Amino acid sequence: MKIAPSLLSCDFSKFGEEIRLMDLAGADYMHLDVMDGHFVPNITFGAPVIKYVRSFTEKPFDVHLMISEPLKYIDDFCDAGADIITFHIESDSDPVKTIEKIHSRGVKAGLVVKPKTPAEAVFPYLDEVEMILVMTVEPGFGGQSFMADMLPKIREIKNEIGRRGLDVLIEADGGIGAQNIALCAEAGVDISVAGTAVFKAEDPKKTIAELQKA
Ligand code: DX5
Ligand code: ZN
Repeated sequence: MKIAPSLLSCDFSKFGEEIRLMDLAGADYMHLDVMDGHFVPNITFGAPVIKYVRSFTEKPFDVHLMISEPLKYIDDFCDAGADIITFHIESDSDPVKTIEKIHSRGVKAGLVVKPKTPAEAVFPYLDEVEMILVMTVEPGFGGQSFMADMLPKIREIKNEIGRRGLDVLIEADGGIGAQNIALCAEAGVDISVAGTAVFKAEDPKKTIAELQKA
């Protein structure tokens, strides 16, 4: 299992330093949660902040856009140094146009589904993306409880990817830690996001290593 620490749980007074620490702790990706206070009831940070912290690691930046109009801001996040951009299928932007825009900048694209959105919603786009991100909490906040009833959805998407012989990664996000990461691995998750589990751990390096074993 690859691990993408969610920087949402970091100390933002030393954002760059926290990224460097996660790099040294063995993180596979840096997960950056962008919220606009409109698509979700919380506001975090945008492209200028990501640009400032880009130089603190060479690990890939996995940028999760929880914003209403992702298409409008794709250039900004590409300029800021995103390696993968995921956006919500429930957003107001056209999925095909948004995926094309991301790819035109040489960046990997992924679609995100909220808990209430069924697996089939992403099937029409599976051939076009590099990643599907399945939310295992309602997006908006860190520290929520993992929704185990999302596991069948992950399996459904994994099966469809296999049936079509595609090379699409599955990422899961929300409430993931030692107590449920094996379930995620079993269901077919390739990358797990972990905020609280990593940042509240006494020894983040040990915790990441343990989670990677799943
Ligand atoms: C929620 C975010 C997640 C979240 C993960 O909207 O997308 O990335 O911060 O944090 P934990 O692991 O604490 O649920
Ligand atoms: Zn996220």
